[in-house]
Amino acid sequence: MIISSTNKDKLLHNYQYNLEYYDYIYSDHRQYSNHLLDTLTPFFLKHHINAIFDACCGSGNDIEQLYKNGFSVNGSDICATMVEFTVNRLRPKNINKSLFFTCNVLDLSKYCNNKYDLILFRGNTLGHLTFEEQKKAIDELIKITNPNGLILIDFRDGVKYFNSKKIYEQRGVGIDNKRKNIFFSFYKMRFPVNIRMPYTVKSYLFLLNYKKFKFTIYTEEIKANFVLKETVVGYISKLRLKHDIVTSKVRGLPYLESILIYNNAI
Ligand SMILES: C[S@@+](CC[C@H](N)C(=O)[O-])C[C@H]1O[C@@H](n2cnc3c(N)ncnc32)[C@H](O)[C@@H]1O
Repeated sequence: MIISSTNKDKLLHNYQYNLEYYDYIYSDHRQYSNHLLDTLTPFFLKHHINAIFDACCGSGNDIEQLYKNGFSVNGSDICATMVEFTVNRLRPKNINKSLFFTCNVLDLSKYCNNKYDLILFRGNTLGHLTFEEQKKAIDELIKITNPNGLILIDFRDGVKYFNSKKIYEQRGVGIDNKRKNIFFSFYKMRFPVNIRMPYTVKSYLFLLNYKKFKFTIYTEEIKANFVLKETVVGYISKLRLKHDIVTSKVRGLPYLESILIYNNAI
């Protein structure tokens, strides 16, 4: 069976489909994230980080990991299904549901009445925004950050990504004995002639349920923008904010860089 989607609201649909099989496609990113957040935890504690907000919570991996490390985390996402999934996932942890909501990061300060010590905007989500929107997103994240708070963003280095011209990117492969699935997934990319134009990613997931002996191929196609490190770092410097590039020993999405912004003017 082939399930294909070329519907209009591709971004939302793509993540909803990914939600069920998120770990099959992004297992490397999840490992990278968990390791990064664990590595940063002593630093967060030293910085008196208590309240955290994830502005693109997705399936809630980062939130769950931070909960495990003792932090209180709230979140939002542009996609209501993702928010619902995350809330259900965290239900056993006595979360305050009213502090999870659906919202485009570009409108964040309109919906979010609280300020936080640390804001996350991770997983190359800036790539879903245009260059101008990427700056606006940074403004919005800053608006809900406490003075002396931190913002953690990560993105694929657009120049390295564009120059790689790598048409195929292998994603997850493995066996999920719990759900009785054998899976293999990859991305197929179409690069534009110019780095300032969007690129297209088509994701393929081959799934064999070995209990029912059912084979399924899922495909999804979305457009995204390259994120230019120069633009992001240049904008942060223009705002007179200090930043650090942070790394994890674990390999995640190719060309991914994590950047920590300090919300206190230089
Ligand atoms: C790669 S996931 C984020 C990963 C997540 N933090 C985690 O720990 O699993 C990207 C998420 O960003 C959301 N997203 C995309 N564009 C957005 C926007 N403009 N505002 C808020 N969320 C957005 C998507 O719906 C998706 O859930």
